[in-house]
Formats: sequence, C-alpha cells, structure tokens
Amino acid sequence: MSGGGRSDFDTIVVERREQAEIALAREIAALVREKRRVNLGLATGDTPAGVYRELVRIHREEGLDFGQVSTFNLDEYLDLPPDHPGTFARWMHEQVFARLEVPSANVHIPAAGLAREEVAGHCLAYERAIREAGGVDVQILGIGRNGHVAFNEPGAARESRTREVELHPWTREDAAEAFGGIEKVPRRAITMGLATILEARRIRVLAFGSRKAGIVRRAIEGPVEPDVPATFLRGHPDLRIWIDRAAAAELSMDRGAVQA
Ligand code: PGA
Repeated sequence: MSGGGRSDFDTIVVERREQAEIALAREIAALVREKRRVNLGLATGDTPAGVYRELVRIHREEGLDFGQVSTFNLDEYLDLPPDHPGTFARWMHEQVFARLEVPSANVHIPAAGLAREEVAGHCLAYERAIREAGGVDVQILGIGRNGHVAFNEPGAARESRTREVELHPWTREDAAEAFGGIEKVPRRAITMGLATILEARRIRVLAFGSRKAGIVRRAIEGPVEPDVPATFLRGHPDLRIWIDRAAAAELSMDRGAVQA
C-alpha cells in the first residue's frame, strides 16, 4: 500500500481492494470511538460494501456502538415504491443499518416514492437536515464509469445542491442487472449536489477494478470539468482516493505505483 505520488490530495493504490476497505472502515471506527456522535455520508452498492462489512465486523466483535451515529445517504431512485427491492433504502437497511444497529431516527435517505410536486421541497428539507445535524464528518464515495459522483452525472455544476436529476444511459445500464432489465431501471433520481458533497469535512473515494481505470485517470489527472464531475472533488481540503491496482492501471507511473 502506498501514497503513490500526491499533489493536494492523497491517492492510495492497494494491491487488493480489501486493504482499502479495512483501512477506511478503521478510520471511520476510530472517529466513532472518539466522538460517538458522528455524521456519516454514505454511498450504496458494490463499491462501498466491503467497508460496511468491516464496520459490521467491528461492531459485532469489538462492540463499537453506532447508537449516536447519524447517516445521510447520497442518493435514491425516484418513481419506485418505498419498499421496492431496487431502492437504495432497502439495500442500506438490510446490509448496513440493521447490522450496525443505527437507530432508524438517525437514518436519512432521500425518498423514492415522492409525487412530482413533493420533490423540490424534499430536497430542500434534506439539505436542511444535513446542516442542522452539523454537517457530514466523513463522506464515502464511489465513481461511476462516466465520472459521476452520487447521481451527479456529466454536466453537473460544481455549485449544485440536492435535487432531482435524469439518470445517464451508462448509469441505467450499470443498474440493469439489479433491476432485471434496463427498461425497469428508473429514469429519475434524487442526489446530493456537488456543493453539498464538497461540504463534508472528509471525503473518501473508492474505485476498484479495470472497468474504472479510464475514468480514474480522468478523475485524478484530467482537467477539472463538469464532463467528469469527480474532478470537482480535487478542490476539497481533505480528500483521499483509494484505488486497487486494476483501477490504477492507466495512471501515470508515480501515482500508479503499488508499494507493499
Ligand atoms: P459501482 O458504481 O459501485 O457500481 O461500481 C460506483 C458509482 O456509480 O458511484
């Protein structure tokens, strides 16, 4: 594992993704142990799953208490019933909140089943809830193949806030298997904005596997531009990007080097 070359943020390349997952889980666990009341910004799906598994292990085996932790999820599909198996809420409850025993009053996820006229007010209330909780301490993030962070798809503005978005074709393609066909994947979603995400005190990005190699290179070494929303993260004062060797394959040598 190494801090493979850096400028104003850390890029850490690991041989196996588990090394990143364990390291990030330990960072979060240390913060929870120290402060108890911690606000976590959470992502859904395969990329962060190993971090959550390790946190569950720490909770069960080391007795770490998540009873005062509050969580704010990045995004959620729209146009699904609230208990639909494809919702991020369902996945988070099953994989994370029930296992970590986070009190349900502390869990915040944008709602999936809103009527059209409810969406704007819900987004404003979501921003307010984050602010009133004192802001996000650690934000976990993945990067989509198209450079999205949360559902801030290519073209998203650096100043964007929690809002309704149209999903990009690649995003819907990547979700097709989970929904049993692309025609079943929702077209709209709610996402925290880039400005919302950038207010988190720490941002921790994960990207694993060869299918992310091209976008990881653009996110880390390409020009900062709305076409690759992940590039806006590079202005953040406490950013760490964890990637495995496969995702680092297209980086320039000094950043891509793995050291044992
Ligand atoms: P993945 O996507 O977890 O499906 O690789 C990450 C993301 O889209 O943020």
